[in-house]
Formats: sequence, C-alpha cells, structure tokens
Amino acid sequence: MRAPQRSAEARAPRPANLLVHGDAKDLGAFVAAGSADLAYLDPPFKVEKAFGARLTRGASRARGPIAYDDTWPSLEAYLAWLEERLAVVREALSPRGTMWLHLDQRAVHEAKGVCDRVFGARRFRGEVVWVPGNGSKSKTGPGMSHQTLLLYARGPDPIWNGKDPSLRAPFAATSLDFHFKSVDADGRRYRDRVVGDKTYRYYADEGRALGSVWTDCPSMAANTPLRAETTGYPTQKPLKLLDRIVRATSDIGSLVVDPFCGSGTTLVAAAAIDRRFAGCDVGELAIQTSQRRLDAGGIAYRARRATP
Ligand SMILES: C[S@@+](CC[C@H](N)C(=O)[O-])C[C@H]1O[C@@H](n2cnc3c(N)ncnc32)[C@H](O)[C@@H]1O
Repeated sequence: MRAPQRSAEARAPRPANLLVHGDAKDLGAFVAAGSADLAYLDPPFKVEKAFGARLTRGASRARGPIAYDDTWPSLEAYLAWLEERLAVVREALSPRGTMWLHLDQRAVHEAKGVCDRVFGARRFRGEVVWVPGNGSKSKTGPGMSHQTLLLYARGPDPIWNGKDPSLRAPFAATSLDFHFKSVDADGRRYRDRVVGDKTYRYYADEGRALGSVWTDCPSMAANTPLRAETTGYPTQKPLKLLDRIVRATSDIGSLVVDPFCGSGTTLVAAAAIDRRFAGCDVGELAIQTSQRRLDAGGIAYRARRATP
C-alpha cells in the first residue's frame, strides 16, 4: 500500500516563530512551560484613556481608530488582571529565564508587590529607568520623564550578558587618561583594581557598565513618521531599547515571548539577532501591524488565533 501523500505545505519546514491573536492569559496553550528564556511585558499602563492609531502618514493618532483601551474600574481590578497574566508568563519561563515588566509611575509601585508575590521577592534582579526623552509637564508635581522596567528571574541563575557591547558605554576621557595607563601583550589598555585580596582587570575597549538609567534609546525613533521604524501604532517602543533587552537576557536560539506585542517591536528585535519569538496581542490592529512589520522584514512566523 502506498503511503498517503503529504501536501507541499505540510512538507515545508514550519517556522519556529509564532504570532498569536488572543489574550495573554491563554499564552500557555501556545508556549510550552519552561521554554522561554525571556519575556518582555509592555502591558497597558493604566493611563485611563483609549489610544488611537495613525494609519496614514500625517494623520492624527488622536483621531485615528482605537488601538486599545487602557481604562480600568479601579487599581485593584488592574492589578488582579495583571497578576493572572504574570502567573502565566512565569510558567512559560525556563529555569534561566527572566521577565521584564515595563510600566510607569501610575502602577509600577503596586505592580512590584504583585511581581514579588508571583516570582518571589528574592527573584527581583533590579530595575531600569528608561528616559524616553519626550519632555513632560505637570502643574502638581515633577513632570514624569521616565518609565520603569522591573526585572525578575524565574530561578537563581538567570541569563545576564553584562559584557554585551549594548550594555556598555565608553569610559570618560579623564578616566581613560588617569586610570588606564597599562597595556597588555595584545596592545589593550587596562587598569587593575585591587579590592581586598582580589585584583579586577578592566579593559578600556570594553567600556563601563551602562547601569540602570537608560537615556540613549529615544522614544521618538518609534513615534515620528520621519523614522522608518515608526508604524503609527500608539505607545510603540524603540527597537534600540528592545535590542538591548534581548541581548542582555537571552542567547542565540533562545525563545523570546512578548504577550502584549502591540506593533511587534520585540519580535522584530529578537528575530534580527537570531532568537525565536512568540508574540501575542488581543487587538486586531496590533496583530495586523505586527504582521505587516514581520512580512516587510521577511521574517517567517506562524499566525494563530486563541479561542476566546
Ligand atoms: C503598550 S502596548 C504594547 C506596545 C508594544 N510594546 C510596541 O512596541 O508596539 C500594550 C498592548 O497590550 C495589548 N493588550 C491589552 N490587553 C491585552 C490582553 N489581555 N492580552 C494581550 N494583549 C493585550 C494592547 O492591545 C496593546 O497592543
């Protein structure tokens, strides 16, 4: 008896990447438990407004179609919604996986308590203050000119590629002149610092650790029609920010998850440096925008719809 013929589509290799149209709480149906090295979460911030999209160059976002609604009955309702999805994300993470939660002053302090509950307070690895560089004004207090990213690990030994050039900045000229006076056999300038009974060697060409305040990823790159990466989707994050996050906390071949992928920034950033991705968004416009972006970049993926 002849074996049944498989269609050409069935024989074609299935792309490892996934784009799911659905609620982040159902992510577990698509991403195997313990499989993701990195999850980046950029959920609604509890801004208490609906966000419109700019569909054509020159159009106004405020008058465009609603991309997503960020209004909530109460802070408690918002936190309960977030906690349910954080728990799903934690399950998807590998033992060396990490989760970045990107929020702002509206809910980040309360969300920290929620993350402590879901991940355990001892799994908190620190926070990044991202300065989008938009300016801000307020009549009642300091205008908020930063957003906060909380970093949590699934286990005790998370991936952290601290030597990656994207996490380094050049040493100041005065520091180079004053401290880096030695040269090794390969011609590299360095300084040795003795702390207690240990000697630490720093190379001038490796630069200094960038630290936790990031001012060099302007949001404007993703939000002006003058830049190619701008899609018109509201609250789109710059590729440079996601590139740094992906490089810092995943390796080549890692699975990167973005349960609130919006315009697909994380997916594009991950694919560009040889990571696999699983993106998800509940919004029709978000999925269309992500698809357009991935297709334009020639990035293969499977599209799925979560059953409500
Ligand atoms: C701040 S935006 C993400 C922007 C994205 N990082 C980018 O660069 O374009 C938040 C996204 O969360 C999505 N969202 C809201 N509720 C969701 C849910 N329950 N599940 C999945 N996505 C949801 C919205 O549709 C919106 O696209």
